[in-house]
Amino acid sequence: MGTCDRPAARRPAGLDGRSYHQEFEVLCRYDVFFTDDLFDPASGLLPSVFADPGPDGRFHVGVCLDEGLVNAQPDLPNRIAAYFAAHEGRIKLAGEPAIVPGGEARKGDWEAMLDAVWHFGTPRFGRQDYAMIIGGGAMLDLVGFALSIVYRGGRQVRVPTTVLAQCDAGVEVRTFVNEAGRKDFASTLAPPFAVINDRAMLRSLGRREWIAGTAEAFKIALCADRELFDFLCGSAAAIGDRDEDVMDWIIQRSAVLHLERIRSEGMAFGTGREQPVDLGHWVGHRLEAMSRYWLPHGQAIAVGIAVDGACARRLHLISDEELDRILDGLTRAGLPIYHKHLDERTAHGQLKLLASLEDMRHRFGPHVTVLLPDRIGHAVPVRAPDRSTLAHAVAELAERAGDSAV
Ligand SMILES: NC(=O)c1ccc[n+]([C@@H]2O[C@H](COP(=O)([O-])OP(=O)(O)OC[C@H]3O[C@@H](n4cnc5c(N)ncnc54)[C@H](O)[C@@H]3O)[C@@H](O)[C@H]2O)c1
Ligand SMILES: [Zn+2]
Repeated sequence: MGTCDRPAARRPAGLDGRSYHQEFEVLCRYDVFFTDDLFDPASGLLPSVFADPGPDGRFHVGVCLDEGLVNAQPDLPNRIAAYFAAHEGRIKLAGEPAIVPGGEARKGDWEAMLDAVWHFGTPRFGRQDYAMIIGGGAMLDLVGFALSIVYRGGRQVRVPTTVLAQCDAGVEVRTFVNEAGRKDFASTLAPPFAVINDRAMLRSLGRREWIAGTAEAFKIALCADRELFDFLCGSAAAIGDRDEDVMDWIIQRSAVLHLERIRSEGMAFGTGREQPVDLGHWVGHRLEAMSRYWLPHGQAIAVGIAVDGACARRLHLISDEELDRILDGLTRAGLPIYHKHLDERTAHGQLKLLASLEDMRHRFGPHVTVLLPDRIGHAVPVRAPDRSTLAHAVAELAERAGDSAV
């Protein structure tokens, strides 16, 4: 029997003893564009956003549209087709645009989500093509999530079509879906290839969605930018009158602050570091679920900011005057500071809201911290408020909201 030809006993390069240290960096890079009327055939922006064309020298693009948006802008599919025809030397539709039901109620609908991706750009959509998602924050989350599990992210070009999505959700690197009554239970990391904030998209928004987006602007302003906070407080009338220039300024500032926060805090990348729950969000998310998603995200976050503000005052982080400014600012912008679900109790008399913190402890460990303002334009992570602080904060807001409570 011949001896077995073993390879020479040489260790693979890099193997040190019995371990190999793996390390590489994943670069995250995308541009956020601000424009007015992306699908005006005279606009050359869209073809310039893509890179790396297909074998025919053109960029292949599958388009997915929010049904609520199409209902409000019925000519949009035709305008998109006309735009692609006008620029056919550079861009090509990968198939018929898919129209996907939008809104919060569909954000947990796995079947609709996977169906959306399946029909995304049939018959010719491939991993190398671009997925253009045009819609509100819920639909961007839904389709982005599906793309990230089916195509490992894909090359997403997002066109957020609500104020909230242009300020915040659209420029994010995470996507979320709801599960079993739990808001944003599942998430993926799926940075976009590019984001295009088109102010023309916002013209068909109803008043409620127009105002809702300013809640996320208040959130980031309160945490990071006093000047934006002052601007928001001073612009209530202009926002109500649908002054587009004012809203444009708010959106640009909020989006950039949000991008800076994602980069500097690395908060999305699950580093294992303890991350505080964002201002207004531990309350807001629970209210959304309690209202069976009848209460929109923006309005729920506004109530959450009010509760966190009242807790911050009780914890002596901010003064009475600062709390007044926060509550006045939200109210004058047309946002709620109280909701009847805030004061709902269990059979043992505890605020049902506290279950939100219990859920978080269950998922992320016992030491849940939340972001609270310690002055206007700055926030700090602190231990989640205790029952008594929260109960007092809720009672104070109920009194303050009076008859205007929703
Ligand atoms: N991924 C993230 O990090 C992140 C960040 C913030 C918010 N979000 C999510 O974003 C969602 C909220 O987004 P939203 O405020 O855009 O609400 P939304 O997506 O629910 O949209 C509200 C309604 O407006 C319709 N609509 C969309 N664009 C329209 C237009 N231009 N004209 C008329 N109607 C239009 C939609 O069909 C929907 O019915 C929430 O699910 C929230 O959790 C995600
Ligand atoms: Zn939010």
